[in-house]
Formats: sequence, C-alpha cells, structure tokens
Amino acid sequence: MAKLADAPDLGSGGVTPVEVRVLSPALFIMTSWNPTSWQSKPASQQPTYGDAKMLDSAVAALSQLPPLVSSWEIETLKKQLADAACGKRFLLQAGDCAERFADCTPERITGQLKVLLQMSLVLVHSTKRRVIRVGRLAGQYAKPRSSNDETIDGVTLPSYRGDLVNDIEFSEIARTPNPNRLLRGFERSAMTINFIRALIDGGFADLHHPEYWDLGFVEHSPRASEYQNIVASIAESLRFIETLAGESIGAINRVEFFTSHEGLHLHYEQAQTRQVPRRDGWYDLSCHFPWIGARTTDLNGGHVEFFRGITNPIGVKVGTHDVDVEKLLDVLHPTNEPGRLTLIHRYGADKVVDELPKLIEAVQRTGKQVLFVCDPMHGNTSKTDSGIKTRSFDAILSELEQSIEIHQNNNSNLGGVHVEVCGQNVTECTGGARGLDEAGLGDAYETLVDPRLNYEQSIELAMLVGKKIDSKPS
Ligand code: PEP
Ligand code: CO
Repeated sequence: MAKLADAPDLGSGGVTPVEVRVLSPALFIMTSWNPTSWQSKPASQQPTYGDAKMLDSAVAALSQLPPLVSSWEIETLKKQLADAACGKRFLLQAGDCAERFADCTPERITGQLKVLLQMSLVLVHSTKRRVIRVGRLAGQYAKPRSSNDETIDGVTLPSYRGDLVNDIEFSEIARTPNPNRLLRGFERSAMTINFIRALIDGGFADLHHPEYWDLGFVEHSPRASEYQNIVASIAESLRFIETLAGESIGAINRVEFFTSHEGLHLHYEQAQTRQVPRRDGWYDLSCHFPWIGARTTDLNGGHVEFFRGITNPIGVKVGTHDVDVEKLLDVLHPTNEPGRLTLIHRYGADKVVDELPKLIEAVQRTGKQVLFVCDPMHGNTSKTDSGIKTRSFDAILSELEQSIEIHQNNNSNLGGVHVEVCGQNVTECTGGARGLDEAGLGDAYETLVDPRLNYEQSIELAMLVGKKIDSKPS
C-alpha cells in the first residue's frame, strides 16, 4: 500500500450528478452518471433486504465514514497497471475467495500477507519485472451465487452471499440478509488495512528481511530449499547493489501493497464513492482496485453502469459467459486511459486454447490497450464423487502456461495472475509437490465458497509460472 500522503483524502458523501462521456465508434452519447444511477438498471446478485429503511440507514452511515484508501494510492496503482499492460511490471492479485469476518485476526492477515510477499519475491526473481501486489482482501466479503435459495432436508433458505450479507449457518436468522453487516464488513476491512499498513510501515515487508515472512510449516515443504535459494540470491544481489551505491536503497525497505475485491454489492460500493479535492471524477474508496465478476458483466446491468462512472482502475472477469468485449470496452474504457482496464480471463484449462485468441483479437480490433491477467481458478472447479468442490493444481498450472503461450503467439502479453490462495495449510485443491489427493481434502477444508491453493501450492505455482515466463522469448 502506498504510504499515506500528507493531505487527507476527505471525499464528499454527496451525489451530485456528473456528465460522463460514453464514446463508441458509431455514436457519441452524453449520459448522466452518479453513484446511485446503477439503481435505475437491473442489478443481479443483490440480496433482498426485508427492511428498506434499515438498508437506507446503513448506507447513509457508511457514506459518512472516512474512506479506506486514498485517491493518491489509486492513481499510483493505475500507473503501475499501465506499466504491466506493456510488459514492464507483473500483477500478482491473490487472496481468499471469500473472506470471513472471523478471519479478521492477526494470524490470518499476516498469513495472507506472507504468501503474497513470498509469491511476489519468486515472481520478481524469475520474471525480472517489478511485481504489483494486490490482495483479494480487506473487503472480499460479498459473493455471487448460482441460486437465490438453498434447500436442505426440505427446508429452503436464502443462499449464503458472503459475510457482508448474511451468515453461512443454515438457520433462518443467520441466512436473512442483514444491512448492519455492511457496517461490520466495512469496519473489518478498515482493521485489516490498518494492520497491513502498520506492518508494512514498521518494516515487515523490508526486502532485507524476507525471513519475517516465513510460515512455521515452511521448512518441511518439498520446495523449501528452492525458495531459500531464491531468497539468498536476492539478498546477495541487494548487497551487491548497495555496495556499488555505497548506501542502503531506501525504496527496497518497503514494498507497496494494494487492496481489491469484487464490486458486487452495489449499495456498499456506492456509499464509499466520493469526489475528492483537486481531482476530477468519482473514486470508489472502498479499495484500490474493484472488479466486476463474470456473472455481472451485463452491458445493461447495474454493475456496468456503476463501474463506468468510477475513476479507479477496474478489472472485469471474462469467461465463457456471453459478453460483447468491444461494446464493453466502449462503455468501460472509452478514452483508452492507461491502466484503466484489466481483463481477467478465466476460461478453464480445456477451453482457453479456443477462447483466449478470440478475446485477444476482439481487444486488438478496438485498438485499445488493456492489461490481460489470467485467473486459472474459476474455470477449473470440479466436484469429487463425494460432492466436495475442488480444483486440480495441474489444471490451474496448465491454464496459466497455455495463457502465457497464447498471448505470446498472438502479439500480446500476459501481464499478471489472479489466484485464490490461503496462508494456512488448508487442503482444498488437489495436487502440487506434496501430491494431495481427494482422500486428503477432508483434513483441513475450510473455505466457505471456492477451494484455494494452500501455502505450498501457491509458492510452487509462482515458481513454475515464473519459469515459464522466464523461458518466454521476449
Ligand atoms: C471469484 O473471483 O471468487 C468469482 C466468483 O469469480 P468469477 O466472477 O470469475 O466467477
Ligand atoms: Co472464487
């Protein structure tokens, strides 16, 4: 996370309409936008609240609270993403599928930070590019679901939609969407960001001390020695450069860290969307980098309406769901602003070879630049015979490796990865160096929604992807 700048980013809670230009080759429309204009469109995946007044007062309370991030940090990230789009940096976006309120603990937060820092170190080493670290954390509390309801033993209740909305426990009271959870989620996001900022400012992310990032169980990992060699080689390079420079290199004492989540719950995002002094436009200050999930990319829907008006860099998940990429770029990326748009493709290991070239070609036809990132998780989810949701390490790696090659063969560049990982020793995805099999999934299966790579699998993936990129002729 960028250091807080000296002047505070106060934001303003008001919702004055603003003119936003939507340019398309065929037409030029001026349509008014404001943080609530999404409400005039059909917005899918929103919870049904029984008490509209309670929702209004939660949103009003959220609109008064100070923002979680600043526009300075957001603009810094946008510039870095623009660099990634042209191959000068590499994006690592990683974290939980669904954060839980109960995970707002020092152990869990440092665990996630450690995995991200270690993965990024491995990627820096092999890609020779600066790595942008973006956590799926401090707000990844709302989840899209395939069905509004869930039925167990003849009892039908609302589906679990993430801790921001309701509780996973299967009881009427727990599953009823509760607007007060918006405030609870916001507070936990603030506590998470605060702790991460304190750790980073205190020197936790100092590249001279990667031993701070070690996790207890790492020494028994099959890849431990390879990781330690990378750390040793980076430490040696640092000493070498500092000897030449005759001083310690300040910028290396501290890494930057950014936050992201799926911008799914539109009342929540709206409440944190502000105008800031001395800048144009509206910033969604709930995180640096919100993204539109694959199920909410409808061009006429509320999510696209909300996202087109915010100034943040934004991501859009693109899968086999029907989406007209050229029109999407017209609406979300009208001015081709560097760093504005990241397309996160998630096709699955068996479909990427057919689908990705079409996506690249569609983008190239527009003449616009986007950052392409691969999410190798969401197209590779399967169920075991006993009904456990899992993903195979080999399929995840395969989609990533194929994506690197496909971009390379199509005059394009894979500029990052988007993965679901966990800093604990969970058993949710099969495979990896330790050869976790289906029978082992029950040992530590914790995720509330999608299976995550555990610590060892995450580092291994970073190593193998790094090698593949490193071997790519540039
Ligand atoms: C997710 O990122 O957890 C998710 C639901 O992904 P997608 O929108 O790609 O399905
Ligand atoms: Co997920």
